[in-house]
Amino acid sequence: MYEFYDKDSLREYRNTLKDQNRRVALVPTMGALHEGHASLITHAHTLADEVIVSIFLNPLQFGPNEDFKRYPKPLDDDKQYCKDLAVSALFLPSNDIIYPPDAVFTNVTVPSLSSLYCGQSRPNFFSGVTNVVLRLLNLIDPDSVIFGEKDYQQYIIIKSCIESLFLPTKIYCSPIIRNQQGIALSSRNRYLSKQDRHDAASIFQSLCKVKDAVQSGILDATELTAVLKKSLSPNITIDYIAFVDEKSLTPVTMIRSGNRVLFAGTLNKTRLIDTFELTFS
Ligand code: PAF
Repeated sequence: MYEFYDKDSLREYRNTLKDQNRRVALVPTMGALHEGHASLITHAHTLADEVIVSIFLNPLQFGPNEDFKRYPKPLDDDKQYCKDLAVSALFLPSNDIIYPPDAVFTNVTVPSLSSLYCGQSRPNFFSGVTNVVLRLLNLIDPDSVIFGEKDYQQYIIIKSCIESLFLPTKIYCSPIIRNQQGIALSSRNRYLSKQDRHDAASIFQSLCKVKDAVQSGILDATELTAVLKKSLSPNITIDYIAFVDEKSLTPVTMIRSGNRVLFAGTLNKTRLIDTFELTFS
């Protein structure tokens, strides 16, 4: 597995792959890899000949009171994890490579979608994400890029960005991976105590209740919000519950098959997000 720390050696590698007609898939990460990332990498292998994983803890997507400093950084474990998953190359840029201090800063944002839902309580989060992802796509020029379904709003925002800026990269969304308790895997789950995990599992249980309610014919978003709240642990502070159109993220009042429920909350300062697709015949 190659390791690249600067853009010139990365470009040289990428150009060699182009000359050899090798298709490249990128899995962008912030490290602290887990089975959720493993499934993105496995998905990437089905799309391309070579899989590149980037690990960059992007300061722009953290607010002043968020966990940038304490975010886990098990770099040696991450490298081994990628090797075991037959990753071809790791891109491990420093902050100055991604945001060169001597370059004029160009801001990439999708304002209309970035201010919704997670963007309400994390005002700079999505512009941080689009800024880093666009830079990674321009540096690596992958044929495809893969994101996790858990961060569904992030996926839709990056998809819009790619489409509106005519980038040639194809974007894919990989299904959520859950632990045995149903908790959606996230690097931040490392912060959860045993009791927290018990409480966090109530998110999945509540979303299952919503899914069942939809399948039994309850389609009113207000009623479904009540269903979700009812089985949620009282230790979770709800940030938002939104029933949305799966493409535009516009709120819906009556569910149509294929719409989504988006959830975000905090549990002892740990932010947890989750989503379900709501289908019925
Ligand atoms: O989902 C993440 O891990 C991050 O938001 C991403 C896409 C790697 C950008 O830093």
